[in-house]
Amino acid sequence: MAGLNVILLGPPGAGKGTQAERIRRDYGLAHISTGDMLRDAVAKGTELGAKAKGFMDAGDLVPDEVVIGIVVERLREPDTASGFLLDGFPRSLVQAGELDKALAAAGKQVTLALAITVPEDELVGRLTGRRLCRDCQKPYHTIFSPPRQEGVCDECGGDIYQRSDDSEETVRNRLAVYRAQTEPLIGYYRDGGVLAEIDGVGHPDEVYGRIRESLDRAQHQVGG
Ligand code: AP5
Ligand code: MG
Ligand code: ZN
Repeated sequence: MAGLNVILLGPPGAGKGTQAERIRRDYGLAHISTGDMLRDAVAKGTELGAKAKGFMDAGDLVPDEVVIGIVVERLREPDTASGFLLDGFPRSLVQAGELDKALAAAGKQVTLALAITVPEDELVGRLTGRRLCRDCQKPYHTIFSPPRQEGVCDECGGDIYQRSDDSEETVRNRLAVYRAQTEPLIGYYRDGGVLAEIDGVGHPDEVYGRIRESLDRAQHQVGG
């Protein structure tokens, strides 16, 4: 069975991480979040983390040459053979081109790019109220989806924290960076014939229903 190679596109706070968890559970795709990988490197104090930290704190993109390397390496892992879900990568036209090259060299291609759209004022409220599990990265929200017990992850019992780049000022810069550098990818994948635009407003389960329709259609097309 050919795998689904999926990209999750969308502005900060669109719900990429929220939906990735559901997709991974139901479709068995390897979830690759560059944001999670970079935060992990920062927390562990690795060389990669030291390179990335300043950019992340400012809400700017980590340089392409740093990020592309870690993704290309990750895509060589065996768990990606039956399909993968990229969350937060690519984020620039350079990254998209390099991804296509790396996939082509492995006889693969992007099967579907899901672009989740949400109006900008809603994004700010989602991000400033967001909380996350330190262990499994499950996203919560102080108002929309609080954990059953305050400060404790429903899934794994881990500690719940707030990301340092979720302050209002940094969020505004992340949104501006998205518009300038990442939004052009929507046209790139539309031209490539693999784009599906998903309305990201509504309950996360409702949004997921829309995503499932696209994924199921793509799965039929690859003969899965
Ligand atoms: P990254 O971690 O990827 O952050 P992001 O793109 O800014 O996206 P978020 O994770 O903030 O949002 P999300 O779409 O996952 O939303 P979520 O599901 O959590 O990147 C962080 C940084 O790393 C970047 O700024 C950059 O510095 C660096 N980086 C990463 N990748 C890079 C790359 N490729 N190149 C260069 N640099 C890179 O949801 C948000 C909140 O909303 C949660 O509280 C959630 O509960 C809530 N929510 C979700 N869905 C709904 C809904 N339907 N209704 C109401 N609330 C909802
Ligand atoms: Mg995320
Ligand atoms: Zn957890």
